[in-house]
Amino acid sequence: MNRSDPVALVTGASSGIGEVFARRLSAQGYYLILVARRKERLENLATELRNAEVLAADLTNEADLHLVELRIAAEPRLEFLVNNAGFNTHGVFFEVEQEALERIYRLHIIAVERLTHAALKGMVGRLKGNIINVSSLAGFLSNPFNGVTYCSTKAWIINFTEGLYIELKSLRSPIRVQVLCPGLTRSGIHDIRDMYQSGIPRGLCLSAEDVVDQSLRSIERNRLIVIPGWRYRFLISLVCLFPRSLKQFAAIKYASKFSDIALREKAIRRARRGSEQT
Ligand SMILES: NC(=O)c1ccc[n+]([C@@H]2O[C@H](COP(=O)([O-])OP(=O)(O)OC[C@H]3O[C@@H](n4cnc5c(N)ncnc54)[C@H](OP(=O)(O)O)[C@@H]3O)[C@@H](O)[C@H]2O)c1
Repeated sequence: MNRSDPVALVTGASSGIGEVFARRLSAQGYYLILVARRKERLENLATELRNAEVLAADLTNEADLHLVELRIAAEPRLEFLVNNAGFNTHGVFFEVEQEALERIYRLHIIAVERLTHAALKGMVGRLKGNIINVSSLAGFLSNPFNGVTYCSTKAWIINFTEGLYIELKSLRSPIRVQVLCPGLTRSGIHDIRDMYQSGIPRGLCLSAEDVVDQSLRSIERNRLIVIPGWRYRFLISLVCLFPRSLKQFAAIKYASKFSDIALREKAIRRARRGSEQT
């Protein structure tokens, strides 16, 4: 590492949006700390970027999370933190294993809060720093099936980052924070063929590069909420205008029409069987 390089830490840098953040920030001259579980992928990326190190960690694991916190707190040149790591579970809420649900809370809430806390004190003292928390368009919605926990934890990220933004602004701190809310993006989470085959219009599938470029341009302008793609911005501005009851009605209609009917019926049958046995 060149001793004068600013440092950026990206979680979930082993694929998708996080990998693109790492590449872009490296091109801007940052020394990268790459965090995720798949060590080999991170090592290949670090070799390619050259000015980078690997910190393999499962952020849902307390000991690993603590190591990343310590690395952040001990880094005097940390100028960029991207809390990007995330995943989703599949299925109806009450059928998903409790352990998987808890891993989502630990990754989307506890890890984001702890790493932001570890980074912010030093950044505020040094009067320099940028934090991007990756939420989702889902944070504005309450999607049933595959999404109740995902949406609610992503909504937390939006509220959390907004609160930080207001607090930092009111302290006249120059630290910039952003919550990035992408819509459907081609990445490790989604297979592009699956996306097109499921009938999603091509215009709604974003590339990870476009998402990251919009995010990085917007942080220069200190924009708090970034929704890449005009279609998604339009959709969310409409959604925000509707009363909650109307959004619930539309979500129930949407879920009934497009969700996997077999999945729902199976879940209801299993729940009935369970209640008959008790
Ligand atoms: N793709 C979309 O349509 C979309 C839309 C809205 C928001 N997002 C959000 O964008 C972020 C990036 O997702 P992506 O689309 O780029 O998907 P992705 O390619 O699957 O990337 C997810 C990243 O998170 C890491 N990760 C997952 N669990 C982890 C854990 N326990 N500890 C540490 N790292 C972990 C993964 O690395 P390892 O497996 O190596 O640990 C991977 O690098 C997520 O927060 C996601 O919710 C995605």
